[in-house]
Formats: sequence, C-alpha cells, structure tokens
Amino acid sequence: MQQQASVPEVLDFGSPKASFRDDLLSGLQQLPKSIPSKYFYDERGAALFEQICETPEYYPTRTELEITRTHGEEMARCLGERCLLVEYGSGASLKTRILLDHLEEPAGYVPIDISREQLERTSRIIHGLHPRLEVLPVCADYTGDYALPAPTRPARHVSVYFPGSTIGNFTRPQAASFLEHVAEISGEGGGLLLGVDLHKDRATLDRAYNDAAGVTEAFNKNLLVRANRELGADFRPDAFRHVAFYEEDEGRIEMHLESVRDQIVRVAGRLVSLSAGERIHTENSYKYGLDQFAELAQGAGWSVVACWTDPERLFSVQYLEVNPA
Ligand code: AVJ
Repeated sequence: MQQQASVPEVLDFGSPKASFRDDLLSGLQQLPKSIPSKYFYDERGAALFEQICETPEYYPTRTELEITRTHGEEMARCLGERCLLVEYGSGASLKTRILLDHLEEPAGYVPIDISREQLERTSRIIHGLHPRLEVLPVCADYTGDYALPAPTRPARHVSVYFPGSTIGNFTRPQAASFLEHVAEISGEGGGLLLGVDLHKDRATLDRAYNDAAGVTEAFNKNLLVRANRELGADFRPDAFRHVAFYEEDEGRIEMHLESVRDQIVRVAGRLVSLSAGERIHTENSYKYGLDQFAELAQGAGWSVVACWTDPERLFSVQYLEVNPA
C-alpha cells in the first residue's frame, strides 16, 4: 500500500508580469491590435471563466462533463495503469476528479497552470480527495519553458490530459506544433486525452460567447482591468464593447474589444490611440470536424484511437496515442 503523500508544493516557472507588459505593448502596436488570450487568467479572470462555465449558454463545459461522467471508466482504461497524469490548464479540475476516481494506481498527478492561486487551490482539493496520490503542481505557461517533475513512484508512461477544448485557442498550425511538443514530452507509449469542441450551427456558437448575464463580457474586459492594476494602464472598460462572433470561413469564434469612441490610453508609460469602432482581437476559439481533427493529429504524430461525443455531437473527448517511430 502506498504511503500518505505530502502536501503539494508548487514548482514555479517564470515571471508572468514582465511578459504581460511586453506582449500587451507589442500587441497594441500592431494592426489590427491584439492581446494574447492566455492573459485572461489572473485570479479574477479564472473565477470569471468558472462563472462562464455555469451560464446556460456556454455548452462546452457541461457537455464535456457529461461525456466524461458517461465514459470516464473507458477513458481511464485508455490512460492505463500507473501513468503519470499531466494536465495542462488544470483550472478547477472537476473532470479530472472523475478520471482520478477511475484510474488504476496512477504514479502521480502533475497539474500545470498559469494561474498560481487556482493551481494551489486545486492541488489542495485533489490531495484532500486522494491523500496517497503524489500531486506535483507546476506553475507555468505551457506554451513556454518548463520541466516535468519526476514522481517518487516510477511511472509506466506519461498520459497528458488537456480538457476544455483549450486547444481551440491555437491556430491550426499552432495546434499541430503543440501536439508535436506533447508527443515529445510523453514519448513512446504516451497518450493524450483531449477535449475538442466541434463545428455546429452559428446561433448556438454566438450565444455561447454572448451570454445574457454578461459574464463573457466581464471576462473579456478583465484584460483591461488587469492591465490597469498590474501595469498602471488607464483603460476605461466602459469605453469598450464586447464583440464575439463565429467566423465561418476560419471555423472559429473571435472575441474582440471594440473602442466605442476615439480615445488615447496610457499603457506602461506609452500612449496607445484607438479610433471609434477599432477592435482589439482578444481570442480565437477554433472548432473542429472529427475527420479534420484526426487529420491534424496524424500530421503531428498522433493517432486518434477513441472518440466520445454527446448525442447532439456538440463536443468530443478523444484519446490519442503517439505513432510508433
Ligand atoms: C477555455 C479557451 C476553451 O474558447 O471557449 C470562454 C475560453 N472564452 N468564453 C473557449 C472562453 C470565452 C474557452 N477556452
């Protein structure tokens, strides 16, 4: 029998503040203006995202949870015995808890998240629920540099869990390089359990990113609130309009912040001017067809070996294996 594991301690990579400043300035100096979507997730942004997941319009979280509840046992079987479970963008980890309940003797659990507060909270919760599981939290931007901690109990293989269709934030070429990177990290025998949002009618998509209660709007504008607080910027959130729509040619939701009038904003000592109607592009959320995604995965060295969807085919959870060399 395994011993009680110790209380998880966070392994921290990087100083997000300096990169926020640099990325924000360079994004606002380009045309069209943009801000990388990873900066949504400060403490308030992470909490707002949790609230989005509870709005009646935002179908992905509810649907993925239901798919995971229905097929969790099979998913755990795919992930295999004694795996080191690595989770990207662990967030609230509700779905992970279902997986962990089904997993056979996992060697350890490595949640990786950019939001340190949430990472600590999640790690404590998982530790409380699975006191013998070794939890090795890593605070990092998983598109940047970090290293995987080694568990005390040797793992048979690495299994990566990337739920929530966060892969949708990448352009298709970025998604392909990300999958290649994950294949390298997990190596031979590695697996990847992935949430992938699917193409569907425009009305459902537009509604999901324009909830009536305005939570998505607050989430979008939180980028400006964050810049004001962390970088001493002087954005007036009410001088911007939340804009989100499905761009059918690209197969993606786009989110923007639209300036309601001509204005000049001070950001980290620089002046940025915006004209009335000008937009700052803040997020892409790509949707996939099942064949389209399988093809992308194949090109990045993975085969889709299992795929679960809901009856309406709104969302999918897929299990991929690294192709033999
Ligand atoms: C967490 C990136 C999957 O794209 O649907 C929700 C973020 N943005 N509402 C998504 C989000 C606006 C979400 N992801």
